[in-house]
Amino acid sequence: MPTTPPEDWYEVAFGDLYNVIYAHRSVEAAAPEALFAAQVLDLKPGERVLDLCCGNGRHLVHLSRITRHATGLDYSRALLQRARRALGDRARLVRADMRAVPFTHEFHAVTNFFTSFGYFQNDSENMQVIAETARALKPGGRVFIDYVNPTFVRDTLEAHTARNAGEYEIEECRWIDEEAKRINKSTRISRNGTLVQELGESVRLYDQQELLSLLAQAGFAADYCYGNYTGVPISADEPRMIFKATKCR
Ligand SMILES: C[S@@+](CC[C@H](N)C(=O)[O-])C[C@H]1O[C@@H](n2cnc3c(N)ncnc32)[C@H](O)[C@@H]1O
Repeated sequence: MPTTPPEDWYEVAFGDLYNVIYAHRSVEAAAPEALFAAQVLDLKPGERVLDLCCGNGRHLVHLSRITRHATGLDYSRALLQRARRALGDRARLVRADMRAVPFTHEFHAVTNFFTSFGYFQNDSENMQVIAETARALKPGGRVFIDYVNPTFVRDTLEAHTARNAGEYEIEECRWIDEEAKRINKSTRISRNGTLVQELGESVRLYDQQELLSLLAQAGFAADYCYGNYTGVPISADEPRMIFKATKCR
């Protein structure tokens, strides 16, 4: 089994090669996701929206067409540079840690796409992210969280895959640490047979009830839960757990 990712894996995993590994996660692929989120959130022109962990800005490209007041927050300098190139001056971009969101009561809505949650070793730090989301929102603000479905992950886990992406060969190993309740991944990126970089990822596998409980602790009332971007309910057959909740206090 490959080495367990270090606790601070997220500080290195989202560098220049991230867009090679996840090339299929493009601006085009993000369009229906951003539109679904905007619809579920009932996002109106003129409202302020924060994409928490915006990455290369692929959802912001679409959200910024709905409202002129779109902001992206991310920790990765490399991905924020890409976001700036994709967005020009159509969105405000901020480099910060999701555990310390530098906004208070500023946004009508917050989005969090593609499993950008559960990264920290301690549950209290993951809870802090939800609490910071609540603080960034105005009273009555809405949040949209697109998170992995742990049941689906356990049922469909491919322990080892290998593929080519452009000039790179990518080998991925995935395993579940049931004691820590985490899905771990080790990715080896090579070019012409020579290892270029090895990256780890590790995400806490919260189940639906646990996530609803975290939201409730932060003062959110959950309005809807979906299993994918067509709006079907969460079930063992669906890959995602998508939550829409409203800040009540
Ligand atoms: C799986 S990616 C998703 C990015 C984007 N939402 C998308 O769908 O393409 C997770 C994002 O979280 C960001 N991230 C990781 N750790 C972070 C932290 N501590 N604070 C803020 N952003 C972080 C990464 O840089 C990366 O852009």
